[in-house]
Amino acid sequence: MTHDISTAIVTGASKGIGAAIARQLAADGFQTVVNYAESVGQAEDVVASIEAAGGQALAIRADVSDPRAVADLFERTEAQFGTVDVLVNNAGVTTFGPLSEVRDEDYQHLIAVNLTGTFNGMREGARRVRDGGRIINLSTSIIGHYSPGNAVYTATKAAVEAMTHILAKELGPRRITVNAVAPGPVATELLLAGRSPELIQRLTNEIPLGRLGQPEDIARIVSFLASAESGWVNGQVIRANGGRN
Ligand SMILES: NC(=O)c1ccc[n+]([C@@H]2O[C@H](COP(=O)([O-])OP(=O)(O)OC[C@H]3O[C@@H](n4cnc5c(N)ncnc54)[C@H](OP(=O)(O)O)[C@@H]3O)[C@@H](O)[C@H]2O)c1
Repeated sequence: MTHDISTAIVTGASKGIGAAIARQLAADGFQTVVNYAESVGQAEDVVASIEAAGGQALAIRADVSDPRAVADLFERTEAQFGTVDVLVNNAGVTTFGPLSEVRDEDYQHLIAVNLTGTFNGMREGARRVRDGGRIINLSTSIIGHYSPGNAVYTATKAAVEAMTHILAKELGPRRITVNAVAPGPVATELLLAGRSPELIQRLTNEIPLGRLGQPEDIARIVSFLASAESGWVNGQVIRANGGRN
């Protein structure tokens, strides 16, 4: 598929959903920046797999919770590839447990990465993504489900959805669309770590399609939102959860 837009930054692309998005956008023809915070080896593996498939990619470390690091991520991308056309704010973290037992440091970390990190990306993107470009955020289908054990995580993503709707209106005059994808349970480290096999089985049983999502299920939706074909989709949250909610 050919695009009239050509460089994409994917935050948190060293593994999981972000890695699948980076691979998909590179296969779609984007020069793709594979952002990561810690997992340098895995980010380099994602770049290598993109290059082996004939695509172009670059791994850039930046902690999205640090506004200066996010500005630097854009600067390095522009230096290497020129204008930024698509920004995918995918980096995210979670913890699982009742609200009464949430530790201060976990609360702060979720706010820092999921909310401040996405805000930092959206703000820098609003300033620097080219007219006609795309900003795509990752939310969660838990919004609307209100699952016990996910209070802070859900709250951070609810705030991301609110900013998505508002930024879409602010950037519409520049033909930049701002949308979110809200996955249900997807088989990644974020979902599987810290949850018992029994809980994962229970989650799976709640999904009418009878399986967990795979990162590629989400990457294909991001691919559409990043494409020229999605030009009149703006300010939307696309929920992909196998029909769970
Ligand atoms: N999996 C699900 O069931 C599910 C459901 C709904 C929504 N989501 C959302 O989808 C997104 C991706 O989730 P996932 O399941 O793919 O998670 P994952 O497998 O745990 O991957 C998370 C990614 O985020 C990066 N990251 C973490 N903190 C960062 C920071 N401060 N700065 C930059 N990158 C950072 C990690 O890189 P390093 O390892 O280098 O730190 C990693 O690449 C998240 O926003 C998540 O909330 C996931």
